[in-house]
Amino acid sequence: MRAALFDVFGTLLDVYSVQALAERLFPGNGARLAQTWRDKQIEYTRLRTLSARYAPFSQVTREALEFCVAALALDATEEKLRALLAQYERLALFPESLDALESLRAAGVALGVLTNGDPPLVRAALDNARLLPLFKHVLSADSVQAFKTAAPVYALGPQALGMPASEILFVSSNGWDAIGATWFGYVTFWVNRTGAPLERLGTAPHATGRTLTDAADFLISRLR
Ligand code: LAC
Repeated sequence: MRAALFDVFGTLLDVYSVQALAERLFPGNGARLAQTWRDKQIEYTRLRTLSARYAPFSQVTREALEFCVAALALDATEEKLRALLAQYERLALFPESLDALESLRAAGVALGVLTNGDPPLVRAALDNARLLPLFKHVLSADSVQAFKTAAPVYALGPQALGMPASEILFVSSNGWDAIGATWFGYVTFWVNRTGAPLERLGTAPHATGRTLTDAADFLISRLR
C-alpha cells in the first residue's frame, strides 16, 4: 500500500466542535444539538441516495440543522443558523491530524480525501485547518451525485489513484464508513476515538485504533 484516502468529517475534522457555539447560541442545548444535527445529516444523505434525490452535502447539512432546531423547539434565527453553518467550514482539527498526515507523506504515501462533502465545503474546511496542501486528491461524492455507502462514491478512489482498492488504505472514524469501504474492497482502518461498539453489519474493518497516529503507524509498518 502506497496510498491512503481519508474521510473528512469526523475523521480529520471534529464535527462535534460545533457544540461550543451551539451552546452559546442555545444555552443548555449545545450537546444535544451537535449530536442530533450530525445524526440527521447522515440520515438525510442516506435517504437522498436511496431515492436518487441527491443534493449537495452543504444543503443537506443546512436542512438537517433546520429540522433539528425545529425538533428541539429552539429559538432559531437566520443569523444563528448561518453562524452554525459557518462553523462547518471552521471545524476543529483533531490534534494529531497534522503530524499523522505529515509522517505518511514523509514516508512517500500518496494522500487523498474521499468525502461526502461537496468541493466548496471540503476545500474551505481543509484550507482553514491548513490541511489542504497535504492532499494530492480531493475526491467528493458530489461528482457521482450519491453519498456513502453507495459503491460509486468509493469507486472514485481507484479511478483517481489508478490502483485497485485492495492497494489503498481507507481511514475513517465513522464505523459505518469504514465498513462501507471494506465492502467495496479497500484495506480499512477504523479510527475509533470513542471506543464505540462495532456496527453489526456482518463485516469488520481490517484494523482499528484510537487515533490517526495509530492509522499512520499501521500503514508505515506495512511499507516495503
Ligand atoms: C464524510 C462524512 C462521512 O466526510 O462525514 O464523508
